[in-house]
Amino acid sequence: MRIIRLPVKRWREYRDIRLEALKSEPLSFGRSYSEAVNIPAKEWKRNLNDGRGYFLFAEEKGKLIGLARLNFNSLKKGKHRAGITEVFVKKEFRGRKVGFELITGAIKQIKKRRDMKRIDIGVLESAPKAFLLYKQIGFKEIGKQHKELKFKNKYYDLILMEMLI
Ligand SMILES: CC(C)(COP(=O)(O)OP(=O)(O)OC[C@H]1O[C@@H](n2cnc3c(N)ncnc32)[C@H](O)[C@@H]1OP(=O)(O)O)[C@@H](O)C(=O)NCCC(=O)NCCS
Repeated sequence: MRIIRLPVKRWREYRDIRLEALKSEPLSFGRSYSEAVNIPAKEWKRNLNDGRGYFLFAEEKGKLIGLARLNFNSLKKGKHRAGITEVFVKKEFRGRKVGFELITGAIKQIKKRRDMKRIDIGVLESAPKAFLLYKQIGFKEIGKQHKELKFKNKYYDLILMEMLI
């Protein structure tokens, strides 16, 4: 397994794994599969590297098995902050530290930038594996936003986490 950046020409692979994430884990992400399935090609391509952030992908035998997005704050007074979103590992590859490698890889990339001080990550209470992984890596829970997501008539809170670097 290796952690890579994806050239834009492989955008379809990014689309496929992201759609798989939204379809198979509706309680882990704010966006619904039905909202993403019709996103046009040019938006998928732009998402890969839009100036505000980019992705790290886990690749094994030429196939993408996981991803994480790094987001950089562009404000003059917020440039020291970054965030990690869209974290997903395909079901059949879980429990093999792929998620760990993606998150620690993202932290390494963020630390390479000058004057970075904080990394934010938000995790729905309905994604306890992700919460435990982030905690194990060193993110601290700092609060909750209540009723962030409504799915099948039930509400779920968002746990806010941060790491000072
Ligand atoms: C969260 C997710 C990315 C983790 O990927 P993964 O490759 O299976 O994670 P890892 O193998 O690196 O797990 C590492 C650590 O996570 C924690 N962890 C994972 N599952 C756990 C469980 N069932 N119980 C306790 N700890 C667990 C542990 O700390 C584990 O370390 P260990 O293996 O030494 O015990 C994956 O489960 C996933 O894609 N989930 C659905 C999508 C999602 O929730 N994304 C997060 C959105 S914020």
